[in-house]
Amino acid sequence: MMTESVTKHEYDVIVIGAGGAGLRAAIEAARSGAKTAIITKSLLGKAHTVMAEGGCAAALQNADPRDGWKVHFHDTMKGSKWLADWQMAEHHAKEAPDRVRELEQWGAVFDRTPKNLINQRNFGGHTFPRLAHVGDATGLEIIRTLQERGIHEGIDIFMEYTVRHLLKEGDRVTGCVAYTRVDGDFHAFSAKSVVLATGGITRCWSVCSGSWEYTGDGHALALWAGAELRDMEFVQFHPTGMVWPPSVRGILVTEGVRGEGGRLTNSEGSRFMFDYVPEMFAGDHAATIEEADQWVEEVVAGKLATVRRPPELLTRDVVAKAINEEVKAGRGSPHGGAFLNIAHRGEEAILKKLPSMHHQFKELAGVDISKEPMEVGPTAHYVMGGVRVNAETQESTVPGLFACGEVASGLHGANRLGGNSLSDLIVFGKRAGEHSAKRAMDLAQPAIDDGQVQRAISEMLAPLQREGENPGGIYDEMRDMMQDKVGIIRTKGELVEAIEDIKAFKQRALTCSSGTSRKYNSGWHQALDLINMADVSMAAALAAITREESRGGHTRDDFPTPEDDYWGKTLNIVWMENGEVKIRQEPVVEMRADLKEALTEVKTMIKDRASKAKGDQ
Ligand code: FUM
Repeated sequence: MMTESVTKHEYDVIVIGAGGAGLRAAIEAARSGAKTAIITKSLLGKAHTVMAEGGCAAALQNADPRDGWKVHFHDTMKGSKWLADWQMAEHHAKEAPDRVRELEQWGAVFDRTPKNLINQRNFGGHTFPRLAHVGDATGLEIIRTLQERGIHEGIDIFMEYTVRHLLKEGDRVTGCVAYTRVDGDFHAFSAKSVVLATGGITRCWSVCSGSWEYTGDGHALALWAGAELRDMEFVQFHPTGMVWPPSVRGILVTEGVRGEGGRLTNSEGSRFMFDYVPEMFAGDHAATIEEADQWVEEVVAGKLATVRRPPELLTRDVVAKAINEEVKAGRGSPHGGAFLNIAHRGEEAILKKLPSMHHQFKELAGVDISKEPMEVGPTAHYVMGGVRVNAETQESTVPGLFACGEVASGLHGANRLGGNSLSDLIVFGKRAGEHSAKRAMDLAQPAIDDGQVQRAISEMLAPLQREGENPGGIYDEMRDMMQDKVGIIRTKGELVEAIEDIKAFKQRALTCSSGTSRKYNSGWHQALDLINMADVSMAAALAAITREESRGGHTRDDFPTPEDDYWGKTLNIVWMENGEVKIRQEPVVEMRADLKEALTEVKTMIKDRASKAKGDQ
């Protein structure tokens, strides 16, 4: 084997990924005194974080003083269909307000209330208006703020470097190996701690809100390094992506549209969401159009809502499935979605609160949303599953390997509430940065094992050195297959087929050819991405066939009800052994007694409020 030349680097903490979670982790590690670098396969700031448009959830109590950490904790657990890691949900609800205020101190320009406090808007599943926002570009503002802060912390940035291998010494992770997009050079990094912050896997589906980067790199790196993943069957199909024209299918339409009073209708003009309110949400959503409209009036007038929220603000899993049902029943919009109308709010309010949506529809679809309805339908947006982490430290089951943001798991259980991803990444990004740095302080700089590096490089070079089919065709076929067989509604038969299909796609990925050039060769990158995509798709399909119930983002046509009406009882844990994805089930750990009391307190408050609203009608 020819030895390839490699540039070597040494750091205390390496963060892989430069979205919100990676930036927040790197800032904290650097502030803790660790020599820190970020490695990103893309450009700094070009991350899925910007697709969290509508806001960042935190119980700041600015828009409604009845809110508080207990209500946010309750809403997150309920939205997760009682499967979230309750310890993470507790940390998240308690710490999110401080993390948002910290962003403000660092220069984030949030929208304001008349009293000049950070304004908060309504989103699905949140009992009170809770989303700190910047129009409909909140993720972008958070990324901008973190980038500026990060530069001042002296973090080194490696842009357009793709990590393909985590170095190990015994059980622990000791660094990583990457290649550059520009010229295909190789780099080996020694690190005392490595933090994965690579985002999600939704490019594995053909209709998705993510861009090309979203190929499950961190999920796969963790699997290959021996770490465990959980909840991989739970994929969030955001109810409102664009459906027309075909070139923009999947692009996100923020939930902020419904938070600002947007109405969903079918081809018959019916507000169909009133027909899809599940039992568990029946008490806290409006039962009539009049009640729903009164809620919008109160919210627009800046009053505390006295009535229940419109059913358009049910959790995402419920709304996405409802749109899917309407289309299947032949009541869809002309291009296979539903209508979303916000024109009743008037042009001035739309341009103020939803300027990006106005621009997006005008430019991409020729639709003026201040006058006409949008056509929307479900789009793969987020994976609740990911690296299994310790709730305090964010360390994975492999020492020295940490994860935060979407690549990590636990906080969102079977379904994530909108707005909880931006708060997730600032709360747990900070924790990952702090604990990865703490770990690094006690360790000597690991040596780089040249044998491991050269083996990783020969795997990377393989698609350039063989004859085979073009990776582009495999990429398209695999994504279409995942859309068809591991989509919103699943059946055993289709999942069995999907597992066999993925095995065949993986074989094709391992034998495809991308031409010989290393310089800006997108075919080469795609050939390598296909391998992670096959492994993470297998993890999702295997977990989906193993969970014989419907819960949150996982719906089985052949097991339509949850195994228990309330608590999630089992976790699917996946890992890799000798190149094969394995699975086992574990019981969920029972919630601490004081947190159960907090839930009871909140439920009583919500019930009293609902009966008062009913009595007032
Ligand atoms: O709809 C949205 O603005 C997305 C937010 C999120 O995924 O948290």
